[in-house]
Order: sequence, then C-alpha cells, then structure tokens
Amino acid sequence: VFLPNAVDSEINCLRVRIQSLAAGGAGVAKDEDGVVFIDGTAPGDVVDVELGKRRAGANRGNLLKVIERSPDRVDPPCRYAETCGGCPWMHLSAQAQLRAKESIFYDTLARLGGVSVEGDARQPILAATQTLHYRRRVRLQVRGRAVGFMGRRTHRLVDIEHCVALVPPLDKAVEAIRNDLKRQGAIPSLEQVGLLAGAKDLSASFHFVRRPTGSAIGRVRSFGFPAMAVTGDHEVARFGEPTLRIGVSGGVPLYGRPDLFVQVHEEQNDRLATYVTSQIIPGKPCLELFSGAGNFTAGLAGRASEVVSVEESVSAVELARRSAREGHLLNVRFVAGDAVAMGRSLVREGRFATIALDPPRQGASGVEELASTPGVERVVYVSCDPATLARDAKALAHRGFRVSAALPVEMFPQTYHVEGVATFDKVGSRRFDLGNCR
Ligand SMILES: C[S@@+](CC[C@H](N)C(=O)[O-])C[C@H]1O[C@@H](n2cnc3c(N)ncnc32)[C@H](O)[C@@H]1O
Repeated sequence: VFLPNAVDSEINCLRVRIQSLAAGGAGVAKDEDGVVFIDGTAPGDVVDVELGKRRAGANRGNLLKVIERSPDRVDPPCRYAETCGGCPWMHLSAQAQLRAKESIFYDTLARLGGVSVEGDARQPILAATQTLHYRRRVRLQVRGRAVGFMGRRTHRLVDIEHCVALVPPLDKAVEAIRNDLKRQGAIPSLEQVGLLAGAKDLSASFHFVRRPTGSAIGRVRSFGFPAMAVTGDHEVARFGEPTLRIGVSGGVPLYGRPDLFVQVHEEQNDRLATYVTSQIIPGKPCLELFSGAGNFTAGLAGRASEVVSVEESVSAVELARRSAREGHLLNVRFVAGDAVAMGRSLVREGRFATIALDPPRQGASGVEELASTPGVERVVYVSCDPATLARDAKALAHRGFRVSAALPVEMFPQTYHVEGVATFDKVGSRRFDLGNCR
C-alpha cells in the first residue's frame, strides 16, 4: 500500500508500507511507479525512504525512519546489527524470519522453476531452537588492525569485538585476535581468518594475499590455535593439527577443517542429515554428489545398499575416507573430481536408484542429464539457494521428475539465507504414484 503523503517529492523521499520480504533480505513496498526494495525493514512497517533517481520497475531505497513499527520487529540483540552485513535480519522476530523463509523457498520454486509444491509434499520450515550462538564455522575479514565482517552492501569492514551469532569458543577467539591486532598492529598481507569449533577444541586457517613473511607466521602462530596458513589454494605453514572431530553421523566420527566446507549449524545439520537419509530409496545403491567431508555419507550408507560419493576437494575426500575407515563403513566409495562429470560416467553403470546431491550456491546444472539415466528413480536435492534449486528443478521436471516432498530448513538464523531439500521422483515410479493416490 502506498501512502500518498510523500515526504518530499523533490529529493525523492517516500513514505511506504512494507508488504513482504524479498529473497535478498530487503522489505518490499509497491506504489503506482513500481516496486521499492528497502533493507532493514519488516512487513507491516511504515517507513520513510530515500530513493535515487526513480527508474521504471524496481528501485532500491534507503531507510530513513521507521514511522510505524511492524509487530514483527524486535530490538536486535547485537550492537553492530545496523551496520554489519553478517546478520541482516536481526531486527525480525524468529517467527517472522521463519514465515518469510518458507514463503521465499516455495515461491521461488514456483516462480523461477514452475514447480508448485502442494499438499503433504509441502512441509513447513524446520525451525531451529538455537537462533544465537550457533555458528561453529566462520570466515572473518581482516583489514589492518580491524577484524570482523563486511558492512551491509558496502566494502567497508565492521570491526567487531564480539559476535552473538558465533558459538562461545569462536567468539572468544575473535576477541583474542582483535586484542592482538590492536596491541601489536597489523599482520602484513593477512586478509581473512577461518575459525572452526570442534567437539572439544577449535582451529584456524589464516589466509594471506601474498606469501607471508616469517614474522607474520610468527604472529599468527602466537595466537596458540592449531592452524594452517594459506596463500590462494596453497598451504604454506601448519602448526598443530587443524583437522578437528566435529561430531558423529550415523555412528561414524565426522571431521572438519577451517578451510573446508562445514555446515554451520550443528543442531540443524543433524536434523538435515537425518531427513536426507530418510528420503533415499532403501536397500538400493545411492550416488552422492558434492559430498564434502562425508557429512551425509554414513547416514546414507546405513539405508542404501551402497554409496558412491563424489567431491571435488581432495582434502575433504581424505577426511571422508578417514571417517569411513574409523567407522568401519564397508559399503561406501569416495571419488575425487567434478560431481557432474564423474557422475556422468558413474550412472552409466545403471545401478543407482537415488542421486543425493548438495551442491554449492551455483547449483548443479546437468544433474537432470544424470537423473534421466535408466535406473535412477529419485533425486534428493539439498540446496542453499532456492533460485538455483528452482532452475535445476525446472530441468528435472522437463525430464519427467516431480517433487514428491520438500522441506525448507532454518540453517542460518538472523539472515535471509534459506536451506532446503526437494525430493524428485520419476513420474511412473512407485512413490510418485502412491503419493498421488493419498
Ligand atoms: C554445500 S557443500 C556440501 C558438502 C557436504 N554435503 C556437507 O553437507 O558438508 C558443497 C560441496 O561441493 C564441493 N564442490 C563444489 N564444486 C564442486 C564440483 N564441481 N564437483 C564436486 N564437488 C564440488 C565443495 O567442495 C563442497 O564440499
């Protein structure tokens, strides 16, 4: 609803009511001239916004003042909330965040993928009990003596002392790094610090833009964490053991390293892994793509007759093999390489009934080709980006796959990021027909 009393039409200030939240996190308002996206707003807010020169269609406005507070608004439990880009939805209640994420997930599938998920297949979002102090892995930015996160839609660093999104041991580590930088000055070429909290301990990766000097290595070593120093993709130094035991999956120990992918929210990851396992076809072979350090592998191996897991990172594959060895998993095999390319030759064997995949944000173009190989009945797709999931869902639909179950998951509280799982069944396969008869 557009409230007609524009504050000042000369400098293009508007007073608008926010209707909904968009996938990129901004509130959405509409008037007769089009759509305006405004960060830091909540559905129901009436706000004054400043616009640049108005273009036809969508515009971005800057929040000037909240005139009427939405009931979804809360006071953010963080002093950096207004500037830091890390938690752009901290001004929203947990319920409002969940509602918006569930809509964004299903609306994106429908709008971009043409896939409408209805009835029992459309499950409500899996909420998290831990919405603060949940992140067990983080990549911090370092600029000179400052350490923190990039600001919201800026390239400016927000120097932080504490972060309420982090699990307490990581928050303490940030404080230690920050105090050292303030006391002793910048560490030349240090650009990022990765931190990972394990079951009992933490480790770090220090990322340098150029090969670090001996004294820079000495400085990061003095923090006292088991760590590695990295330039580009090359490990240039290691002190202590940065690989940590981060949990147990399917009765098998799981390992992580601060420079490798690890699901950030332990509680939600455990629930996600259980759900993914429940979705595969039992007693038949499963092809797992983008398997990382084997986060889902042991669970899948407990339900499938065998699992072949493909992952590009050789280091992650080594960790997955270690887990499988220590957990005495005999029905898994790991392959290092490009998921779709390796998958293409693996599916030719014609044994796999399920393809389970968990690609990065870019999605998995080409998965539809693998899925249309004879023998493949189901695709269980874990996604951290509804837009690329929707694109790939459309391609799967063209090959005769329909969504038989979907589940959005709250993996990143206080942000607009949505994790989700969609299960696709080949039309004519048993589950799809049963689903339609319910
Ligand atoms: C979202 S993570 C999921 C990993 C794992 N399933 C988990 O839950 O921890 C995506 C993984 O895909 C891997 N990856 C990225 N591009 C790839 C590619 N083209 N082929 C194979 N693996 C790839 C990354 O290294 C990362 O481990």
